Amino acid sequence: HIAANNARESLYVISQYAAAFFANELWTGEQGRAIGLSYFKERGFREDIIRKFELGYSPDQWDALLLSAKAAGHQEEYLSKTGLTVHNDNGRIYDRFRGRVMFPIHNFTGRVIGFGGRTLKTDKNVPKYVNSPESDIYHKSNVLYGLFQAKKAIRDADNCYLVEGYADVLSVHQAGVENVVASSGTSLTVEQIRLIGRFTQNVTILYDGDAAGIKASLRGLDMILEEGLNVKVVNFPDGHDPDSYMHRVGAGAFKNYIENNRKDFILYKADILLKEAGKDPIKRAGIIRDIVESIAKIPDDIKVSVFIRECSHLLQVEERMLLTELNKMRSAKF
Ligand code: CTP
Ligand code: MN
Ligand code: MN
Ligand code: MN
Ligand code: MN
Repeated sequence: HIAANNARESLYVISQYAAAFFANELWTGEQGRAIGLSYFKERGFREDIIRKFELGYSPDQWDALLLSAKAAGHQEEYLSKTGLTVHNDNGRIYDRFRGRVMFPIHNFTGRVIGFGGRTLKTDKNVPKYVNSPESDIYHKSNVLYGLFQAKKAIRDADNCYLVEGYADVLSVHQAGVENVVASSGTSLTVEQIRLIGRFTQNVTILYDGDAAGIKASLRGLDMILEEGLNVKVVNFPDGHDPDSYMHRVGAGAFKNYIENNRKDFILYKADILLKEAGKDPIKRAGIIRDIVESIAKIPDDIKVSVFIRECSHLLQVEERMLLTELNKMRSAKF
């Protein structure tokens, strides 16, 4: 086990080295300042936020990190094991991240375990984000971006805002709302929910206001209920994500918006589904079933009865009918 721990320790060390290298390039490199730092500033990110999240820049050359790390006495083996370098078919070794702004990913104790790198190009053929591959220290499905910077605020607020992306975390933070983490995409995992559960039982989903974000909110809220946590959802207008909306309306209005527009999951589902169904009675019956399906996932019976009552009021259906439906679903599950 000592050997294994030492091997993992070397991966942490090289990851921290890389984060410092990228940050140094951003603040002092000619290319980093002209391209990377000005990119962040054009997006409206403040310097204190850029520093707090240790953002960086990977120079647009094949081996900037590789050469620097070797010169500092690091072994290529560890660069390769963290995916910071890649090997091509000819055995040539080069940097994975080139010409991108860099977001180091920390575990919740604050150690760097991986990276996301965003392209500065608008070319649709270039992937917007390149991420570290899985490694002995980085398991994507167990990580929430920003948790290290957010965990104290999550405990204090007894609520965790959940966003999709790196930029969303920065912007929500910058607006003064520090209890925010990203699932890094729309496929929230059970492990990520359990990680939030160590700090609070209350989650507020702030996914993008596009079709993918709405679909992911519906999926996410069911998963969160199933883990026994409470969940609310905020929807952003006109396809905005938290980052674009914060820069659009400003910090104060953004804070007000997320506080005044969080809907509990029943109301959120009812709003979305009723819009789709219109006056069609068969579709409306389907909605009732759909909402009861979510309620049926909640492990706590007291909460279940509270939500059944709320649902009954909201949809003007008798509680007894909803309970019959709920029990059918529960017995079908076991
Ligand atoms: N993502 C990813 N790889 C991609 C696209 C997205 O890993 N090719 C992850 C990133 O964590 C990203 C999140 O999914 O932050 C949300 O994706 P998206 O909404 O497309 O990007 P934004 O975060 O809004 O990026 P930006 O504001 O920088 O354009
Ligand atoms: Mn492991
Ligand atoms: Mn999106
Ligand atoms: Mn987005
Ligand atoms: Mn965005």
